[in-house]
Amino acid sequence: LLEQGPIVRSKFPFLGNVWMVSSHAAVNEMLKDRKRFVRDPASLGKGQRGYFPFWMPRSLRVMASGMILRDEPDHRRLRILVEQAFARRSLEQMQPRIEEMADELIQEMREKHRRTGQSVDLMAEYAQRFPIAVIAELLGLPEADRSRFGNWAEKFAIEPGLIGFLKLVPSLGKIEKYLRGQIQLCRDAPRPGLLTELVQAESDGQRLTEDELVAMAVLLLFAGFLTTTHLIGNGMLELFRHRDQQERLLGDDSLMESAINEILRYTSPVQFTKPMRAAEAMNYYGAELEKGDVLMAVLAAANVDPTVFVNPDRFDITRKPNPHIAFGAGIHVCLGMKLAKLEARVSFQKLWSELKNLELAITPEDVQWSKQKGVRRPQALPIQF
Ligand code: HEM
Repeated sequence: LLEQGPIVRSKFPFLGNVWMVSSHAAVNEMLKDRKRFVRDPASLGKGQRGYFPFWMPRSLRVMASGMILRDEPDHRRLRILVEQAFARRSLEQMQPRIEEMADELIQEMREKHRRTGQSVDLMAEYAQRFPIAVIAELLGLPEADRSRFGNWAEKFAIEPGLIGFLKLVPSLGKIEKYLRGQIQLCRDAPRPGLLTELVQAESDGQRLTEDELVAMAVLLLFAGFLTTTHLIGNGMLELFRHRDQQERLLGDDSLMESAINEILRYTSPVQFTKPMRAAEAMNYYGAELEKGDVLMAVLAAANVDPTVFVNPDRFDITRKPNPHIAFGAGIHVCLGMKLAKLEARVSFQKLWSELKNLELAITPEDVQWSKQKGVRRPQALPIQF
């Protein structure tokens, strides 16, 4: 894409004609320019349809009330509420419990390995389960329900085309029903966690509608889960591939922050953001856009733009500066980036130090990649130790 230019006409399942925006400058500028680009088609003006027309399943329309698909001022109203709830707890406070959850899963992997004598799949046994455990606890959802989220999330592996897209609806319906139930339980008997805080914020000042509350809960659950799974899986694979750098990292904790940033840049766990729309006709980086044109911000391309990153295809845990945009940019910039980095830090430290003689049980070239659109992660990572 980068070789073809900063903005390229293409086709996209379900969306039809789109512009793929790939250079670091063009992606960054588009995500930050609230005047010329919008998220919600309804923001294009009077008579414009919203994200999903009225004949689409209700669960999809409910999700469209989530802040990730909204523009100002609604986006701001919603984001402030979660930001406040996040700000009430510090990562330092959460860290011991997060470490405990990592320890529990590592212990289970150890036992499974000992019992079966077989390799263990790091993706299924750790990278998927750890972020669910963290986000479920943050939201205050019952521990017994965790495995259900994993099953639903699998269904989110969107296949191309309308049929693939519609296959997603039943799972979405189940998630919605489950979270509506949990919200009601939090109303009846407040319990620790973000969900109760959001419910209380709703009843205090009528600042969230019921659908917005459900959409927020779904967004937090899924934005905070699969993305971090991908970061942990991709990171472990790159560290297996670059053993010299892995050994350096284990011996020098001060490299952890730059190593995580490099994993984010090099693997872009979220390959592109939700689509944007041109709010007016314009010439953008040489492309003649019409009002309403759909644009995709390809973070994975921007993160290897050679005009910004020296030797972009080289993995280098000491890379500085590293202005990657793996967490997006502008008003929708990731809300959970600090938490995601903490989860990655705890995982890399613990997995390499607790599992002695940790090895990948297959060659890195044999790793199968997830077919899921828009994300990059190994389907499985068999390990032995
Ligand atoms: C938004 C990436 C982890 C919550 C985003 C966006 C990206 C992103 C690229 C912008 C999407 C867009 O503009 O369409 C990632 C990556 C993660 C991660 C790579 C892990 C490695 C998390 C975690 C949480 C979270 C742990 C929650 C605790 C959110 C939310 C938004 C968001 C709520 C929407 C923000 C808004 O619309 O204002 N994330 N994320 N993310 N992320 Fe993350």
